[in-house]
Amino acid sequence: MYNRRMNILGIETSCDETSAAIVTEGREVRANIIASQADLHARYGGVVPEVASRKHVERLLPVLQEALDSAGMTYRDLDALAVTNRPGLLGALLVGVSAAKALAYALRLPLVGVHHLEGHVYSNFLAAPDLVSAFPLLILIVSGGHTEIVQMDGHGQYTLLGHTRDDAAGEAFDKGARLLGLPYPGGPNIDKLAAQGDPKRVPFPRAWLGDSLDFSFSGLKTAVRNFVAKDAGQTPQADVAASYQAAIVEVLTEKLRRAARETGIRTVCVAGGVAANRGLKAALEAMADAEGLRLVIPAPIFCTDNAAMIAAAGYFRLQYHAPDDLAFDTYATEPLAAR
Ligand code: KG4
Ligand code: ZN
Repeated sequence: MYNRRMNILGIETSCDETSAAIVTEGREVRANIIASQADLHARYGGVVPEVASRKHVERLLPVLQEALDSAGMTYRDLDALAVTNRPGLLGALLVGVSAAKALAYALRLPLVGVHHLEGHVYSNFLAAPDLVSAFPLLILIVSGGHTEIVQMDGHGQYTLLGHTRDDAAGEAFDKGARLLGLPYPGGPNIDKLAAQGDPKRVPFPRAWLGDSLDFSFSGLKTAVRNFVAKDAGQTPQADVAASYQAAIVEVLTEKLRRAARETGIRTVCVAGGVAANRGLKAALEAMADAEGLRLVIPAPIFCTDNAAMIAAAGYFRLQYHAPDDLAFDTYATEPLAAR
């Protein structure tokens, strides 16, 4: 169908990053512009949906132009468009989806709606393009809203092996940070502070949930709240942060080890904002070494929300699926995979 190298424009506005990217053949990132609104939401301690939508409206067109400029392209050089249409903040998603539909209509280009978590999964294919011939893969998805272990048997083929029963790992980082008095977004701040602390100082609980590959992080939040109230600032904050991070990291790492043993899958990937965590990376590297597994973790900029991963996912979707009809919908929630 296409006789030239396919350039896909990806658009991502599901939460508080306005991002546009151009990816060639699903793997070469020609531009990846990310305008973060984190500063704006920091004063509220979390993302305010209405503020996020308005900022996306303001920033999307300049971000799109910047992506084209930095790739040295114009809209005429594009072959297809991909946009996050689920799950996420509905108003925020609609900004990207409306823009993508208008562009697709005006430029007469095929458009695909991409599941945000599938985008995160495909950030691994940007990091390691040979994964296309390495199925089945085991994927640990750890974002602000989701925590799951998924088996990927081929493009678009996912089976859920385990998921969180309450808070997501990123949410645990953010809520823990707030209880420690650190600013939003908490994950990167805990990461930084933890690097100077003793992870064994405070024995925060781990929820193992028997043999299950499910997760639970809400008890941890309560534990840190109780600890902070009782400790009254005696324990160095870096030690508390390091211990808190260790409790999250240990459960994620051990469940992934268990999933690899149970399924016999030898290639494991990590996706989502929490994959940028240095403590998690170190623990997973040690685990993969011990188990003889191949481990892929994208560079931090491709772990947190970005449009390059959406363009990559869109590219592969167009390889096995027709473009979407322009009437496609936008959804606040939708699982990536079922058991
Ligand atoms: O994937 P993502 O950018 O957005 C969602 O799809 O949710 O993930 C955002 C989450 C936030 O909870 C943020 O605190 C966390 O990822 N995060 C981190 C780090 N960087 C981002 N958590 C721990 N360590 C980090 N370095
Ligand atoms: Zn995300």
